[in-house]
Amino acid sequence: MRRLDQLLSNLGYCSRSEARDWIDSGAVTVKGEPANNVSLKAAPAEILVDGEPLDHPDGLLLLLNKPLGLVCSHEMREGPNVYSLLPPRWQRRNPHVTSVGRLDKDTSGLLLLTDQSALVHRLTSPKHKVPKIYRATLSAPVTPVRAAELIALFGAGTLVLPDEKIACAPASLQFSTPTEAELTLTEGRYHQVRRMFACQGHEVLGLHRTHLGALDLGDLTAGQWRVLPLDFFG
Ligand code: URA
Repeated sequence: MRRLDQLLSNLGYCSRSEARDWIDSGAVTVKGEPANNVSLKAAPAEILVDGEPLDHPDGLLLLLNKPLGLVCSHEMREGPNVYSLLPPRWQRRNPHVTSVGRLDKDTSGLLLLTDQSALVHRLTSPKHKVPKIYRATLSAPVTPVRAAELIALFGAGTLVLPDEKIACAPASLQFSTPTEAELTLTEGRYHQVRRMFACQGHEVLGLHRTHLGALDLGDLTAGQWRVLPLDFFG
């Protein structure tokens, strides 16, 4: 049970002070009766706003096809962010909707967004080793011999990135053409895909995440998202 004004403001409907006017106007009902007190406590399932149930009162988990050019940071100085794609009410929620791990501004593809901090910690924890598949486009073709060397090196779990001490976990690499590769990582270090290739003399021009665990993007086009059940990951 939570106070009505707190609930409405945390779900992004209005500020806590605006909640008073809303409630006074009769727009909010609890168990079918107009609420008459901002400090009334009620279970979210009992509340209607303008006759509608509350908008995802238990939390949000979203699968987004991140477009190029948007950052995952909430820091406005870093430029336009992925949260600007969401409905304004979701952008105002508290706790904030945030990304589960990050994709670079110049990386597109599968990104989870949620307001459930426990889920963020769980899915980004190194313990969990959730496989993530990236499609990388290289700036120059690699020969079959070089491709075999990279596959062996990335798969061995011995590659130490510049300025790091601990080797990257074994990663599976496959080439579909001399410039297109698919890399599966079980960890998420800063700019990891680009840095793995760069330290071997290969530049990644394009990067797109296609899978995270059992999830893929299905028919979501760039900028589109869909809601996942909160218990999707158990
Ligand atoms: N590796 C990168 O280099 N960039 C990303 O966005 C994700 C993985």
